[in-house]
Parts: sequence; structure tokens; C-alpha cells
Amino acid sequence: MDIKARPNVGNLAVYVPGKPIEEVQRELGLSQVIKLASNENSWGPSPKALEAGRQALEKVFLYPDANALVLKELIAGELAVGTEQIVTGNGSEEIIAMIAKAFVDPGNEVVMAKPSFPRYQTCVELMNGVAVEVELKDYRHDLEQMAQKITARTKVVFVCNPNNPSGTIVTEQELDKFMGLVPEDVLVVFDEAYFEYVADKNYASGLKYLHSGRNVLVLRTFAKAFGLAGLRMGFGIGTEQIVDFLNRVREPFNGNLAAQAAAAAAWQDKEYLAEIIARNAKGLAELRAGLESMGCTVVPSHTNFVLVDVGKPSQEVFEALLKLGIIILPGHLFGYPTSLRVTVGTPEENEAFLNALQKVL
Ligand SMILES: Cc1ncc(COP(=O)(O)O)c(C=O)c1O
Repeated sequence: MDIKARPNVGNLAVYVPGKPIEEVQRELGLSQVIKLASNENSWGPSPKALEAGRQALEKVFLYPDANALVLKELIAGELAVGTEQIVTGNGSEEIIAMIAKAFVDPGNEVVMAKPSFPRYQTCVELMNGVAVEVELKDYRHDLEQMAQKITARTKVVFVCNPNNPSGTIVTEQELDKFMGLVPEDVLVVFDEAYFEYVADKNYASGLKYLHSGRNVLVLRTFAKAFGLAGLRMGFGIGTEQIVDFLNRVREPFNGNLAAQAAAAAAWQDKEYLAEIIARNAKGLAELRAGLESMGCTVVPSHTNFVLVDVGKPSQEVFEALLKLGIIILPGHLFGYPTSLRVTVGTPEENEAFLNALQKVL
């Protein structure tokens, strides 16, 4: 007998993650598989983070600190906010879901770019809210259009900066203008999952607007530059009031013991982070040069991935690359049918990808 879920649940888009390495090995009988599909850190985390995580495992018979205070104190000290202004999540993804749970009533509107990180739309629709999507313009957020789409029903606006899947940023000047148009009672969420990679001097974190008293939540993660995607730890920085609301809908023990310890160690290892950022910048430049030498069009990226138009159907290119042991994310999934999203790998991985793509094209 059929069972009925809430009507909107059946309509939710199912998240399509990058294919796991083991699945491709099994399906295609390959021993060597390279994954450049989920914007993970190809060099892995700081050895100090790994060691802290290992040590924390000794204590897994205990619940973790529900308030993640040690980690919050480290972050708060550096970002000049109070610990009550920080909320942690089982990945920043979980905080996106908490935002929808706490702020979106049926019929409320949430403005976001398209394409952008797909969880905004899904989480809003789960709450019977309306996702108002505004097409990117030249691969960048069209902030003018986004501001125009704000109505009396708008509760939240998502600004993904840098944006996934395009890798582009909006500048401080553009954001200043935009924030001047957004009503003060609308929550502006800046998703800064790739913050650490940005070197452009025209970029500003959304923290600027939090410090000027606006209703802002800035999302950051340990899954990207810090290399801890598998442990799941993200955090949001907002006003005390916003964070209080989020804490009311949060699962009490959502930050596991190993993740809290590893994240705290990763946060403090600035030398390792700087090394990763430098390696990524070099890899990004090599990847871009290699792709352009094949006649592909690369969107200038401020992240650890590139969006590249290869001029061929992305699904076919994706499948052909898989057979050669390379996993990327095909662009038809997010509306760019001849593009690929490719994570910056180690020099060896980038070379293997470029060689494989050359064969496929
Ligand atoms: C823009 C953006 N936001 C959030 C996330 C989720 O990150 P986390 O692993 O912290 O849940 C991702 C992951 O790909 C992302 O690209």
C-alpha cells in the first residue's frame, strides 16, 4: 500500500552529489580513479587536524559539546564577534536547512541566484516557501534584478559569494549598493564556502554588513580549504537574535566530537591553510591554461574549481571521462549543457584530467 508524504516532499529535487570514487571503481572495474567533482581539498587537511580528530576518537563514548564552545571561541576571537553570534552545523548545508526551518513560512519568498548552490531552493521548498530564482548575468549574481525581486513576502536572500557553480564573485561596491536596496527586516545570507580562496581586493565578506548592524548571516565551512569535508563542520556568524533562532531548530549534538576537535586544530594551523591556498592558486592557473589551450572557454574563478565550456554535451563528456577514471560534475545538471565543473586537483591529477579531456574532445 502507498504511503503519503507531505505533498511538497515528492516534488523536491534530489541532491546529486559528485560520484564517489569507490562506486566508479566498482562499476567500471578501474583501479585508479580521480575525483574532481565535489570541490574537496585535493591535498587533504592539516596533519594537526587529523591528529586532533584521532585523539578525539578516544572519547567517542561521550556526547560532544552541544555548544561547540572551544571551536566557537577560536572563531569568535579572530572574527571579532561573540560566541553567541556563531552557530555550528553538520556542514554549512545543515545551517541552510536551519535557516529555512526558522524563517520560512508557507508562501514566504526567498530570493537566490540561478544556478547557485541547489540546497537553498530545496530547503525553502521543503517549508512550502517560494524560491525566487534570478538568472546569473555573465556568470555572476545579477544583484540589481535580485533586489527588484524583493517583495513584502520576501524573508531571506541568499548571496553565494563566490558562487557555486560559476566560481565568480560580487564586489564590495556591488554589495554596498545591493544592501542599500534590501529592507532591513530581510535576512541576507552570505554563503562564503570558498571564502579562503578569494584573493581579489574588490571582494568583501558579508561580515562587513553584520558589523554595521544589518540582519546578516555569513556561512563558512571546514569542508573546502580546510579539507574536512568528510567530518562535516560548518558555521554561521550572525546577530545574536538570528543565531538564537537557529539554535532553537538545531539538533542539539549536530557537531560530532571528532569534527569539533579537528576543525579547531585546522582553524589554528594558518601555515597549512596558506600553503593550500598557494597550491590551489597555482593549480587553478595551470588548469585554466591547459583548458584554454584546448580551445575551451573558462569562467575566471575565485575558488578551488572552474566552470569550463567544452562545446560538447556535458553528459557525453562526463561519461567518456568516467571511463578514463576521472569524475567531474557535468553542467547539464545546473543548466549549462556544454560545460563542466572541475575541482582543482594536485598537479598530477590536473595533468591526468587535461590529458583525458584532450582525448575525449
Ligand atoms: C556554495 C556552497 N555552500 C555550501 C556547501 C556545503 O558545504 P558543507 O560541506 O559545509 O555542507 C557547498 C558544498 O559544495 C557549497 O558549494
